[in-house]
Amino acid sequence: MPRDLIVLPGEGIGPEVIRQALRVIDWFGARRGLDLTVREEAYGVAAYRRHGGIVADAVRADLVSADAVLFGATGGPAFEEIPPEVRRAGSLLAIRREMGVFANLRPIVGYAELADASALKPEVMAGVDLVVVRELNGGLYFGEPRGIADLPDGGRRGLNTLTYATWEIERIARAAFTLARGRAGRLCSVDKSNVLETGRLWRDVVSRIGAEAYPDVRLSHILVDNCAMQLAREPGQFDVLLADNMFGDILSDIGGAVSGSLGMLPSASLAAPDADGHRAALYEPVHGSAPDIAGKGIANPLGAILSVGLMLRHSLGREEDAALLERAVRRALAGGARTPDIRAPNRPALSTEGMGDAVIAALAETASG
Ligand code: IPM
Ligand code: MG
Repeated sequence: MPRDLIVLPGEGIGPEVIRQALRVIDWFGARRGLDLTVREEAYGVAAYRRHGGIVADAVRADLVSADAVLFGATGGPAFEEIPPEVRRAGSLLAIRREMGVFANLRPIVGYAELADASALKPEVMAGVDLVVVRELNGGLYFGEPRGIADLPDGGRRGLNTLTYATWEIERIARAAFTLARGRAGRLCSVDKSNVLETGRLWRDVVSRIGAEAYPDVRLSHILVDNCAMQLAREPGQFDVLLADNMFGDILSDIGGAVSGSLGMLPSASLAAPDADGHRAALYEPVHGSAPDIAGKGIANPLGAILSVGLMLRHSLGREEDAALLERAVRRALAGGARTPDIRAPNRPALSTEGMGDAVIAALAETASG
């Protein structure tokens, strides 16, 4: 039975990078027997003009039941024409929540091949291989009450609520422990337990889940400010990092500096499996819409392409193909393939499509040994 994928290229550089990701999917279809029905749908201003929503209701209802959703990017100047309530209703955040994808995996790899593009010293970044597991459905992003209120003194007051219940911490902790178990077996949990009650609860619950169910995983805890420093100083010390929604957002961007560019980072956002074993899943490059370079054909498609790799691994059960794609990306980089964001000194940079060509060529070479 073919599996079904919904593709939402979105806006800004989204469509450009997704185009290259789709070429990679086609390659796996033609050469490795990947049987995937691809349905492309509008997301953003185009969808708003046609349907009055950022994403059509009929599409939205199917995001949860699809085997996977591949998302490009959202946002940009054109968004201004969409009324704020429509924007909020169809926002990426609303979709993440509606799909129930609470476990956000953001792998961060320090490619030795990209040492010259990284802000870190070669010996600090090379060989880094960690995953930030970010809680994606709760915390400060969704807590109520929230808003901006007028004050009697003529000023205003902004309010957001940071809240985590035991069950929310438990399920993301289990996801992170399970991932660590399949890797180097080390989990470092991030919090601000020296100041925040949510952080104290976070630490308690993660410790308990570890002791009860994952005694084989080596668990440590780190305060978020120290973690930020350690990520810049010695990222190689981490295997799996577990963080709440806000901290995970911030820390994963530091990963962009380790890899050389935010354009390198893929992500997978996974829901809990339902009674039939089906699990909603959203795959997206971490970079966002980058309106300043949109339409120029120079965006780095590797974040989107590597997101296809995560989809092969986490939704389609094709670990071998995922590993093949990751090796091919490495090979393309080793061969000097560079978009401007990871440009090497004195070497011409490739276009988005050129990088797609390089990955396809490397796939063919890697597959044949
Ligand atoms: C991310 C982005 C989003 C987030 C924005 C675009 C809402 O920064 O995926 O990291 O904060 O989650
Ligand atoms: Mg972010």
